[in-house]
Amino acid sequence: MNAVTDLARADLGAEPILPTLTSLFGLPGVRPHERVVLTSDPQTGLRAIIALHDTRRGPAFGGCRLWSYADESSALLDALRLSEGMSLKNALAGLPFGGGKAVILKPRGTFDRAALFAAFGRAVQALDGAYRTAEDVGTTLADMRVVREHTPYVSGIGAAGEFGGDPSPWTAWGVFVAIRAGVQARLGRASLAGVRVAVQGLGSVGMHLAALLHDAGAKLVVADIDPVRVVKACARFDAASAGCDEILGADVDVLAPCALGAALNAATVPAVRAAIVAGAANNQLASLADGDALHARGITLLPDFLVNAGGIVSVVREHLGEGDVATLRTEVSRIGERVLELLDRVDRTGMAPARVAEAWAREI
Ligand code: NAI
Repeated sequence: MNAVTDLARADLGAEPILPTLTSLFGLPGVRPHERVVLTSDPQTGLRAIIALHDTRRGPAFGGCRLWSYADESSALLDALRLSEGMSLKNALAGLPFGGGKAVILKPRGTFDRAALFAAFGRAVQALDGAYRTAEDVGTTLADMRVVREHTPYVSGIGAAGEFGGDPSPWTAWGVFVAIRAGVQARLGRASLAGVRVAVQGLGSVGMHLAALLHDAGAKLVVADIDPVRVVKACARFDAASAGCDEILGADVDVLAPCALGAALNAATVPAVRAAIVAGAANNQLASLADGDALHARGITLLPDFLVNAGGIVSVVREHLGEGDVATLRTEVSRIGERVLELLDRVDRTGMAPARVAEAWAREI
């Protein structure tokens, strides 16, 4: 039986609801959430945070991350920032869902993975559809299939090659069309042939993206903390390799951050040499001020919550049982049109793209 603390309608940016929450939940820079659930199951070692940011467009939909966090506050901050990003992403993608996200604090030492995700599935079921889950960093299709045994409120479980399933290739496709549109609009190049792209992070999305870019004729520089992935990408895509931090300052046309969040911060922004930044990683900007700094340097950042929506579009369509591979491809490809519309708005307002995209999403 899962123990659940439901901080219903807690305004995390305002008055603490319990004195002990001041340090844990009074996190600066986080907007109010509708609901935040802490769930634990001592038998399996589950400790998870499910954050429902905004459900005005529909139930909260967003993936589940499994990660070794330094501490509980870091996990909470991650859940809150990611769930807010899902509200923006789902709105811009025109999906009938609000924003939510779950993070599971990875148990230390060995643990029974199936039992852990069974407990998580029970926690999702207890929310009775208010939150719908899928894969994210650290979780797999197999994990989601375990979750499915305990709740229907999960997606991303279709078999490989079928409609739905692993959302990563769709995320990569969306980032690819965004890069193509950005290159056309900002560099005046109709094709990616010869365009130099740096990909940081060669995981589920980064590797697919590198393949699409390579097939389109782009010249790649890649980096990952896992040297095996770097060797594989260099061999498959005739890519050059760079250090994980060094790649952010690579002499390229496009930088694609596809690892974890906050890659673009006060320390790294001055080093960026690319004309366009567009990648899959959620919350690439440590703060909106870092986006302003890129904009002031004439660098075009295509906001993550606009360009990486391909995966959530896939899991939502699978969940609703709507469409097929062809209609999904058309829907995800609309990200390219949205990039052009965003850049038009940026040119008209003179504001940084992240701010313009956020205002656009809130308008929707
Ligand atoms: P993943 O866990 O499969 O891949 C992440 C990769 O980044 C791994 O290969 C890891 O070794 C590498 N990495 C970690 N830290 C690094 C660093 N400092 N420098 C270079 N490489 C580093 O994750 P996945 O699914 O590919 O997601 C990547 C990003 O895209 C995440 O931020 C995720 O939240 C975001 N995203 C993923 C979606 C999906 O469909 N999988 C959907 C939307 C966003």
